[in-house]
Amino acid sequence: MTYDAIILGGGAAGLFCAARAGQRGKRVLVLERAAKPGKKILISGGGRCNFTNIGAGPANYLSANPHFAKSALSRYTPRDFLDLVESHEIAWHEKTLGQLFCDDSAKQIVAMLLSECEKAAEFGGQVDLLCDHEVTDVAYEDGAYLVTANGTLFGAHTLVIATGGPSIPKMGATGFAYDLARQFGLKVVEPRPALVPLTLGGEDVLFRDLSGVAAQVDAHCGKTQFREAALFTHRGLSGPSILQISSYWQHGRPIAINFLPQHGEGWLLNAKNEQPRSTLKSRLKEDLPDRLATTLAERIGIETELGNTPDKALRQAEARLARWEFCPNGTEGFAKAEVTAGGIDTAELSSKTMESRKQPGLYAIGEAVDVTGWLGGYNFQWAWASAEAAAQAI
Ligand code: FDA
Repeated sequence: MTYDAIILGGGAAGLFCAARAGQRGKRVLVLERAAKPGKKILISGGGRCNFTNIGAGPANYLSANPHFAKSALSRYTPRDFLDLVESHEIAWHEKTLGQLFCDDSAKQIVAMLLSECEKAAEFGGQVDLLCDHEVTDVAYEDGAYLVTANGTLFGAHTLVIATGGPSIPKMGATGFAYDLARQFGLKVVEPRPALVPLTLGGEDVLFRDLSGVAAQVDAHCGKTQFREAALFTHRGLSGPSILQISSYWQHGRPIAINFLPQHGEGWLLNAKNEQPRSTLKSRLKEDLPDRLATTLAERIGIETELGNTPDKALRQAEARLARWEFCPNGTEGFAKAEVTAGGIDTAELSSKTMESRKQPGLYAIGEAVDVTGWLGGYNFQWAWASAEAAAQAI
């Protein structure tokens, strides 16, 4: 059997690319190292797969070139994917902030992708999926890619790298995409864990005692800010706002948390007028979980009733509560990272087709590429959109 294209990796991007290329009449082979395809889809969104975000746009992605994702994202939109989901009669709901989930199970998304692959036959195409086939070697000879998987050699003139990034190595994730890219002379932007919990040391270590406590906060890193829940853990900080900010955080930089983003300037002085007999601790308990309120009040060190506390001290307390600085000493690493930031340098790829500018017939899509989405369905949307861009070109 000769194939028009071989796709390495049967995850979100690989399966979708195969289906779309197959439906353009192409004969496509997908090689997947795991026993089943789409493993990350199955565990995503707590088993319900946050398959897209209805508001996804270029501003929701990190990349050394922030413009790179624009073309693919505009040509395959969240609405396009939602139309596909609806055409398969998969019930869905918006959880929050534009995040769309299956009502029932992430299995439905994998089943949908496989059924779309099968549909290729209706268009004169074909998609073969071989699981338990780990690709170990790729050679390029006389304009063809020779791919070795499980000791068998496969050949095609087009090769699509869709092997994802190294986040969650326990699930078999590796940096294979980067090795392959480098083999063909493509640069790789240093991969780093993203959407990952941050660890606390030094003075901040005391906050670990709050393990399990969560609050709605504004988390800031430089000019970037997210208003979502933060969660204290036995190692440091997690929760959606922290995972989001972790993608922007760099070693040595602080992050700042506004514990009371709902309050405008001067709220503590107002409280002094309106509730002079209350203490800082009791006032904080009105808005925050008890343990967090106690810790913050103790660290600020105001024990007197608000009515007997100087305005200056209250202004300082308010400022501290609005920009409480933490200096994370690291992240929980690829073992806990939902995605990998960095990856195959977008400068090496056409933003229209995802094809290498240097190496003819070599494409890269999905998480393997230096495009990383926010938490909330954005990463799958990039997988679908980049896969579609490549599928239209191969
Ligand atoms: P993906 O990792 O999906 O697929 C790569 C495939 O290549 C894998 O199947 C792997 O086995 C295979 N492979 C690797 N090396 C190989 C080799 N040498 N030979 C053959 N095959 C090989 N995103 C989102 O938008 N919404 C969400 O709800 C979630 N939830 C979520 C939860 C958790 C726990 C994680 C870890 C991640 C998420 N994500 C997410 C992120 C999302 O899963 C991720 O961005 C996409 O799966 C990326 O799709 P890819 O196809 O690029 O890689």
